[in-house]
Amino acid sequence: MMNKSIRFQELEILIDELVQEQTSMLMILQNISKLLKEEVEYYDWVGFYLVDKNNPDELILGPFEGSPTEHTRIPFGQGVCGQVANIGKVIIVQDVSQEHNYLSCSIDVQSEIVVPIFKDGKFIGEIDIDSHKKAPFTKEDTVFLEKIAQKISELF
Ligand code: SME
Repeated sequence: MMNKSIRFQELEILIDELVQEQTSMLMILQNISKLLKEEVEYYDWVGFYLVDKNNPDELILGPFEGSPTEHTRIPFGQGVCGQVANIGKVIIVQDVSQEHNYLSCSIDVQSEIVVPIFKDGKFIGEIDIDSHKKAPFTKEDTVFLEKIAQKISELF
């Protein structure tokens, strides 16, 4: 990507438009997944895990774009997603072969970023992005995705 910051600024505007659409929350999350996967070359799987209201120590797979995954439910603490659920902070794994607490979705995945979503200070879910490249994520991805997480929390 030529200039990440400028591209991310453009995508933020498009995501603002998607968030304001008069449609369901799940449809908006689907559209955001699709936009991010299509527009950021190294985002190869983009999806959401949401806290299960009936079982608040577990995440359930929400809308996503990319290969189907067997990890449709993830207990807190398990994998990168479950770790983020526990600590409420962004985790970047630049090389998944080096991460012992990792749940593999596909052998093509080399790296992952998971960004928590909060509503009124409470952890409600997360954005999960896998890449087929090693170490593609920078501070700019974190800043961008935290802004997206903030916009999404307004839907809940
Ligand atoms: N790799 C994740 C599991 C979810 S898949 O990437 C879609 C993890 O370790 O939690």
